[in-house]
Amino acid sequence: VAIDIADVELYVSGDPPAAWRAHRNQNRVPWVTRTDGSGYWAVTRYTDVTAVYRDADTFSSELGMRLDGSRVATAAAAGRQLVVTDPPRHARLRATINRVFSPRGLGRLESGIRATVKALVDQILEARECDFAEVAGQLPASVICDLLGVPSTDRSEMLRLTSAAFGSRRGAVAAESPAEAHATVFAYYAGLLADRRECPGEDIVSVLARAEVDGVPLSDEEVLLNCDGLLSGGNETTRHAATSAVLALIEHPAAFASVRDDRSLVGSCVEEILRLSSPALHVLRTPRRDVQIGGAEIGAGEPVTLWIAAANRDERVFEEPEKFSPSRSPNRHLTFGLGEHYCIGAGLARLELRILLEELLDRVGSMALTGPVRRVASNLVWGYEAAPVRIEPR
Ligand code: HEM
Repeated sequence: VAIDIADVELYVSGDPPAAWRAHRNQNRVPWVTRTDGSGYWAVTRYTDVTAVYRDADTFSSELGMRLDGSRVATAAAAGRQLVVTDPPRHARLRATINRVFSPRGLGRLESGIRATVKALVDQILEARECDFAEVAGQLPASVICDLLGVPSTDRSEMLRLTSAAFGSRRGAVAAESPAEAHATVFAYYAGLLADRRECPGEDIVSVLARAEVDGVPLSDEEVLLNCDGLLSGGNETTRHAATSAVLALIEHPAAFASVRDDRSLVGSCVEEILRLSSPALHVLRTPRRDVQIGGAEIGAGEPVTLWIAAANRDERVFEEPEKFSPSRSPNRHLTFGLGEHYCIGAGLARLELRILLEELLDRVGSMALTGPVRRVASNLVWGYEAAPVRIEPR
C-alpha cells in the first residue's frame, strides 16, 4: 500500500523525504487511498512529473491546482485566474500579466526590495533574536504591495491583513479569521482598481485594468482574481524559501563561508536552496482523457498530483540529492513548476532571495538556532511555522 503523502501530519512530524523515496521506488505511479476513502495518483519521479507538466492539453488545471482545494472557489476562478486557466486562453492572459515581470519591470522593483531587505536585516541585528519564519513574511508581503502599487499610508495595514489572510501560522493571534482578512484584502483591491481606472500607473492593477484578452477587456472580477493570484502565489512560498535560506546557512557553516568568499556562488546557492526547500509541495492536474503515466493507466477525470518536492530529490537526476551543494550545476529543479504554468514570479522570487543572501553575507557574522524549528501543517506549502534564531553582526 502506498503511503499517503498528502497526509498533513507527515509534514508536521514525519519524514517526508523518506516517504517520497519510497514512492519514487515503486514500480509504477501508485494510486493512494486516503483515510476518508478518496484517493489520488501520486507522481513523484522527475521524468513522470515533467511528462505531465509538458502536456497541458491533456492535464487540465481548471478543476483546481491543489488537492483539498475548495471546489466552489475553483469553479469561480476557472478560466479567469491564470493558474486555473487552460490553453489556449492561458497564454493570452499570461502575456498581459507578464509585462510586470519583464526584466524592465523587475528592474523597477529592485531598489524597493533592497530597501526592504536592509530594513529587515537592521531589525534582526538590533533584536539579535527573532523568529525568522515570522520576520521573513515581511519581504514578499512588502514586495507585493510594491507590485500592486499600495500607497505607503496603507502598507502596514495591508501587511497585517495579508499575513492574517494567507499566513499558515497556527498559533498566530489575529483580529479576524483568515477568510475575513481575505475578504477585506479583496475589497481593498476593488478600491485600488477604481482608483487606477481613474488614474493609471505602472503597477499590476493598472496593467490588468487596461488588459484585453482576444479584444475583450478583463472584467473587474477577473482583475481582482488575478491580483489575488499573485498575492497567494508569491507570499507564503517566498517566505518559506527565505526562512530556508537562513536555516541552510546555519546548518552548513562551511557553505556560508565559501559563498561569502566567492560571491559568484550566490546564484547557484539560491538555486540549491530552492531545490531542497521546495516550498510548493505539490500541484494537481486532471486528465481530460484516459492516459498512461509512469506505467499507470489513469482514467479521465481522476486526480493526479505532481510532487515537486519529491522530484527535486530524485536520485536518477540529482547526484547525492539530499546533500546541500551550493555550487551544484546543472540544477534543473522543478521548484517553480514547468511548462505553461511555470511560475510567473520566479524571476522576482530569485531576485528577493539573492538580495537577502547578499545582505546576510555582507552584514551577518554568525547565526544559530535558539530552539526547535516547527513545520507548517500543510500538504501544499512545505515551510516553517517557527524558526527561532540568534543572529550576530559581523
Ligand atoms: C519561492 C517562491 C515561489 C515558488 C516556490 C513558486 C512556485 C510556483 C509553482 C510550482 C507554480 C506552478 C503552479 C502549477 O503548475 O499549477 C507557480 C505558478 C505561479 N506563481 Fe509562483 N512561486 C513562487 C513565487 C511567486 C511570486 C513571487 C509570485 C508573484 C508575485 C508568484 C506567482 C505565481 C503565479 C501567478 C503563478 C501561475 C502561473 C501560471 O499559471 O501561468 N509566484 N508558482
